[in-house]
Amino acid sequence: MSDDKGRDGQMIRMRQIRKVYSTGRVEVEALRGIDLDIPRNEYVAIVGPSGSGKSTLMNIIGCLDTPSSGEYVLSGETVGGLDRNRLAEIRNRHIGFVFQNFNLLPYASALENVELPLLFAGVSARERRERAAAMLEKVELQDRMEHKPTELSGGQMQRVAIARALVNEPAIILADEPTGNLDSGSGKGIVGLFGDLHANGQTIVMITHDSAVAKLARRVVQIRDGQITEDRTVAA
Ligand SMILES: Nc1ncnc2c1ncn2[C@@H]1O[C@H](COP(=O)(O)OP(=O)(O)O)[C@@H](O)[C@H]1O
Ligand SMILES: [Mg+2]
Repeated sequence: MSDDKGRDGQMIRMRQIRKVYSTGRVEVEALRGIDLDIPRNEYVAIVGPSGSGKSTLMNIIGCLDTPSSGEYVLSGETVGGLDRNRLAEIRNRHIGFVFQNFNLLPYASALENVELPLLFAGVSARERRERAAAMLEKVELQDRMEHKPTELSGGQMQRVAIARALVNEPAIILADEPTGNLDSGSGKGIVGLFGDLHANGQTIVMITHDSAVAKLARRVVQIRDGQITEDRTVAA
């Protein structure tokens, strides 16, 4: 799938990304000139204190929001200036989201939750079931397929959410504080799962304020006051 990359080999390429929020008369400059390249099969943690701009950056990477200025190229496609529909299309094709609060449908089983993205993509009922079941097996929940979220632990719920994020075979898994609502043991399990996915070729961008969690990623990008202050890759 080398055609999934930009011509310079980057999955994500950002140049001088700025984001200004205007609320009444107050302007907040949440991102102040971000330059960031993320190649295919990278496992990067974006860390920084509360209010430093992590979620703003995640929303832009995930095509949930657009920058005020700067250039963003995702898998060779320039994202700036696209309308909502095109943005949604790119998002659905390239990104699997994992959130702090899992965002599962409470009355649906684990299997139905994982099937959902395939339903939106128009995949047949039979194929949906097969692919969703295979993903739940991958996250070691083959014996919890019919369980509802309330019948699962936090760590298990996050595994369902990860299976759901993976089921469309996204180019990137984008996770915002995925361990934020988990005890440290379950959090380690989730980060370990990301490590396994990365070893199998998955590109992962994980946002966290927890430096212990970030240490388990291959590369750590530190942001502070809307700017990158450190970018460090651990030797393999
Ligand atoms: N929708 C918004 N409207 C106005 N200001 C915002 C909005 N979202 C975030 N901010 C501000 O932008 C800055 C960065 O926020 P955020 O990206 O959520 O940081 P983090 O995720 O690192 O805690 C903060 O000062 C925050 O108050
Ligand atoms: Mg945040």
